[in-house]
Amino acid sequence: MCGIVGYIGGRPAYEILIKGLHRLEYRGYDSAGVALMGEGSELNVYKTRGKVSDLERFCSSKDISGTIGIAHTRWATHGEPNDVNAHPHVSRSGNIALVHNGTIENYHVLKEALEIEGCKFHSDTDTEVLVQLIEYVKEKNKCSLIDAVRGALKEVVGAYAIGVVDTTEPDTMICARKSSPLVIGIGENETFIASDATPIIEYTDQVVYLNDDEIAIIQRGQPLQIVDSDNLPAAIDIKTLRLSVSQLEKGGYPHFMLKEIFEQPRTIQDCIRGRVASSGDEVSLSGVTENKERFINANRIVIVACGTSWHAGLIGKRLLQEIARIPVEVEYASEFRYSNPILTSNDIVIAISQSGETADTLAAIQMAKKCGAFVYGICNVVGSSIARATDSGTYIHVGPEIGVASTKAFTGQVTVLAMLAMAVGTLKNTVSKETRFAVAKALRSLPSLIKQALRLNDRIEKLSSTYTYVHNFLYLGRGYNYPSALEGALKLKEISYIHAEGYPAAEMKHGPIALIDHELPTVVIAPDDEMHEKIISNIQQVKARGGSVIAIVTKGDTTIKEIADHVLEIPMVPECMSPVIVSIPLQLLAYHIAIKKGCNVDMPRNLAKSVTVE
Ligand code: M6R
Repeated sequence: MCGIVGYIGGRPAYEILIKGLHRLEYRGYDSAGVALMGEGSELNVYKTRGKVSDLERFCSSKDISGTIGIAHTRWATHGEPNDVNAHPHVSRSGNIALVHNGTIENYHVLKEALEIEGCKFHSDTDTEVLVQLIEYVKEKNKCSLIDAVRGALKEVVGAYAIGVVDTTEPDTMICARKSSPLVIGIGENETFIASDATPIIEYTDQVVYLNDDEIAIIQRGQPLQIVDSDNLPAAIDIKTLRLSVSQLEKGGYPHFMLKEIFEQPRTIQDCIRGRVASSGDEVSLSGVTENKERFINANRIVIVACGTSWHAGLIGKRLLQEIARIPVEVEYASEFRYSNPILTSNDIVIAISQSGETADTLAAIQMAKKCGAFVYGICNVVGSSIARATDSGTYIHVGPEIGVASTKAFTGQVTVLAMLAMAVGTLKNTVSKETRFAVAKALRSLPSLIKQALRLNDRIEKLSSTYTYVHNFLYLGRGYNYPSALEGALKLKEISYIHAEGYPAAEMKHGPIALIDHELPTVVIAPDDEMHEKIISNIQQVKARGGSVIAIVTKGDTTIKEIADHVLEIPMVPECMSPVIVSIPLQLLAYHIAIKKGCNVDMPRNLAKSVTVE
């Protein structure tokens, strides 16, 4: 979490940095700050608790001149969110300023050692230790900033992406990374650094993704240099971004989340493009074709992911087991990494991550690779750490997801998992021709079915008023839609702060039924599938105890209409693809309830989009 951005070039840095911070605010938004080096090399550091807009207000009467600067938007790990703990942090002499994304795990030890040397600390952060350490190394060794940064980083245990400036070397900016992302944008006589490419795209599409343990030396008017931790030159691999500024804007919607919900007909079209034939039953993924033998011979698949991506993984399990007949386990990446897993070279680990930066998922990948497993990634962000750490994979191609609550990434992940199951099932000959045709057809029709489901928006908006002041919600689903219930509950709690639990409907009688009364609404996901009759009984059980029911049903379902309080009709879709369509009303319900409660849906409290800490 946390977003960093930096600029060196000929333009005023402040505007570029602030705009960049706004783009990165999804990574954290509890405090923000900027350090600018003006003419005469004085360092102006401004920081404040709150969002980037608070920082802008704070800076409105300040000297914001300078063509070199670094900036930060924070998601607190060490030290409460306040002005002092906000970044940039500055060294004892006031010469060096640093922004940091990550966690310095051994900061206690380093801090104690520096205190013995006379360093005084002002904040509770791990980051301040790093900037003091850099200055200590610089003074002790009478060396340049780059040597000091390299020396200091050798002492550090943990994760970091950093940007550093120094008034004694006013035309230099240093950045480095280990386990936290950092992108360098190369413009004409100007260079940008950022946690992802979104602050850069407006100025250049030429970028370099810094690798772990690399340090970049960016000097005004000089070509970019990258060295490794032993000071040996590293290759500079310039990539061209495929991203547009319009993808990063709200496009007339009041919130990114609503924009992203409504984008889904197009994003799913982009996701299946070139992968599902326009007619017939062919579904192909290059990642599968290139690794045919691996998939054919796989003993089992282990899916690792967190949050919403983990829910997609649960759906993927059913798809892969049913269509490709490979046993699948789904693990929280955070648990898997500490579970001493048993993996062999015949196992495939599938890592699912929208951001491609989730620390726990990355660590799980590293562990799987150590065990010799083949690791396949399903990511959205092109060039992200997970995309680069995996052996092969498939991008979901749904475009930048900025709202903290994942929406279009979830439907993209499920769609990719369905295509993966189909591609592998076809290779293994475990799927009948009829099923292949039906699933390929369903995949093709997803964009238009999503469009139909989006028509529920107005209805859900009205309905949401009834539930604004409710304290708890229960979500029930079965089979493919048990994970949909988990996902619906997660969406509601993360943006509206209403407690919600998802359950397999049949489990209700083993405990949760005790909660039901007139104050607890239940969302029941009840499309017309194998479990339909059984889920109707669950609805009856809720109703018999005075609970109210919002049911998501297949169009034309008259039985449930008679018993549920509210019915949201979705179009008919084969069961295995129904989570994609079901998720539309669930996303809209969470959105509208949160809006009615006055919550900030794009930046819910305590959350960050990209969870790069443990
Ligand atoms: O970027 P990832 O998919 O790895 O992120 C995993 C979770 O942090 C993420 O899905 C989180 O649960 C979302 N806020 C859910 O909306």
